Amino acid sequence: MRQKEIDKTPARLDFIQSSTGLILALFIMGHILFEASILISNEMMYKVTIMFEGYYFFGETYPGIITFLAAAISIIFIIHASIALRKFPDNYRQHKAMKEHVIRMKHEDTSLWIIQLTTGFIMFFIGSVHLYIMMANPSNIGPFASSFRVVHEHMGPLYFLLLISVVSHAFIGLYRLAMKWGFMEGESTKVSRARYKFLMKTMIVIYIVVGTLSLAKYTYIGVTHDFSEVKKFKSKIIDLRAH
Ligand code: HEM
Repeated sequence: MRQKEIDKTPARLDFIQSSTGLILALFIMGHILFEASILISNEMMYKVTIMFEGYYFFGETYPGIITFLAAAISIIFIIHASIALRKFPDNYRQHKAMKEHVIRMKHEDTSLWIIQLTTGFIMFFIGSVHLYIMMANPSNIGPFASSFRVVHEHMGPLYFLLLISVVSHAFIGLYRLAMKWGFMEGESTKVSRARYKFLMKTMIVIYIVVGTLSLAKYTYIGVTHDFSEVKKFKSKIIDLRAH
């Protein structure tokens, strides 16, 4: 008699979710550090920007590279989020059961999972806004262009919320991956789990502090730099509504 075939789809989906999550987490770790180049100097942030536009390789800047990169990240982001959707509680009864479980068990790993679900949900919306803006305006990045966006195009609050969400989501995700892939097994699972948890929390704090300092610097430049010419140009564009 033939044995019943095992459905491998859930395992495959799980693997795709973990690997896309790993790529996104590594991307974001690099992203926030490169972006923090503003803390060194405006020139340094400008150098990092043109490096990504291929200047040091081609001798010219190609902002299209940023569009390509943002499109690639968007595709990975969408794949990762779509697969995660199946883990959301999809009715009120499931939601209630989950909440009661969290309250009754008081198990930190379950609470971490809820944080991941919530931050993932938030990022679905605000992460997409940011990615689309980067894709559509690839040449509009730099110490002054970015500061203008943060202050005068009111992206600061959105970036702050995105920062808190993405950093918590990424490091909780890496912790869960390490657990899933067996890094915490061994003589004393309890001790290694506590160590990884400490590392996760430390990284969350470091990245939120660095990201917040960078945002503060962009805000400072946005407020103190003279953008009157840009504002004049923008008000001319507003005139286009009528003419
Ligand atoms: C290739 C794709 C991406 C590019 C080119 C990009 C580029 C940038 C740039 C240039 C800034 C500085 C502010 C500005 O100019 O508006 C910024 C800020 C930020 N980006 Fe991205 N980004 C990308 C993808 C993402 C993704 C996928 C996320 C998370 C879901 C993200 C999260 C953030 C956050 C949180 C900030 C503010 C960081 C801080 O507080 O210092 N970015 N991004």
